[in-house]
Amino acid sequence: MNYHEPVLLSEVISELNPSPHKIFIDATCGHGGHSQALLSHGAIIYGIDADKTNLKIATNRINNKNFYPILGNFKDIIKIWKKHINNPVDGILVDLGLSNNQQSESGRGFSFNDNLSIDMRLNPDKQKISAENIINTYDEEQLYLLFSKISQEKFSRPLAQQIIKARQQSPIKTGQRLASIIKNYFDLKHISTHINPATKIFMALRIETNQEFENLNKFLNDSQKIIKKDGKIAIISFHSGEDRIVKNYINKHNFKTSRFLPSLNEIKNNHLSRSAILRTYTPIKQNL
Ligand SMILES: C[S@@+](CC[C@H](N)C(=O)[O-])C[C@H]1O[C@@H](n2cnc3c(N)ncnc32)[C@H](O)[C@@H]1O
Repeated sequence: MNYHEPVLLSEVISELNPSPHKIFIDATCGHGGHSQALLSHGAIIYGIDADKTNLKIATNRINNKNFYPILGNFKDIIKIWKKHINNPVDGILVDLGLSNNQQSESGRGFSFNDNLSIDMRLNPDKQKISAENIINTYDEEQLYLLFSKISQEKFSRPLAQQIIKARQQSPIKTGQRLASIIKNYFDLKHISTHINPATKIFMALRIETNQEFENLNKFLNDSQKIIKKDGKIAIISFHSGEDRIVKNYINKHNFKTSRFLPSLNEIKNNHLSRSAILRTYTPIKQNL
């Protein structure tokens, strides 16, 4: 199995400082790369993921009595903590975004090449609205606002119009079709891009489908209620909108904080780490 490569791993470990008996929540456990490293220092890990396939991968991969996998969404961190831990924790890690398999697998709808689906829900059992619903039902103004506000797509208006025109022929049911509608517009207008022209539209759809900004805001407010006084929260984001939410939250509360970027060496070895930003903070007010 091609496991997801954990980003900024040494920085996360040195910031969270795991040791025997310390309790951490890995709120986006994924394939368990970060969890494994924390466990190797003797810590106890509660690993949460909203995606049951990923949680199963982590559970099968990690064979350690100190690892407790939990299917859930980090927006419900208080409920999960009450049920499973109910003691202040030493640290919490959130590694936002998707794992490599989620991004590329057909049938999940996250990929430009997916010829089966444009679903994008992390947990279809719990979430009613898929990206397919959104792309086929939002009106022009709603699509325009979604693309321009969430991912600052320069061509939000004409792309919204193209999408509506295409879905009048037949509903958009695959990532491949949506990617080709967007590509056709860029080709027609001779617009060249260094990334896939559908990147920003797919990102906006994924964020909307999974309510990612709302969930992150709720997590930020709630997580400080369950952490020890000197505990640390570490958040890795891959998108300027997410990082802005984290940065503004930390600044608003005047928490002691640090920021880390991947080294050139890490970026060379793992291209997907290039946009990662790690912010860590201790949720107690700094003395001014
Ligand atoms: C970048 S991957 C994490 C990779 C992991 N750190 C590792 O080393 O394998 C992000 C994971 O977060 C999960 N996820 C995203 N949003 C979530 C949420 N709101 N609650 C719980 N899990 C979430 C995704 O399903 C995915 O498995």
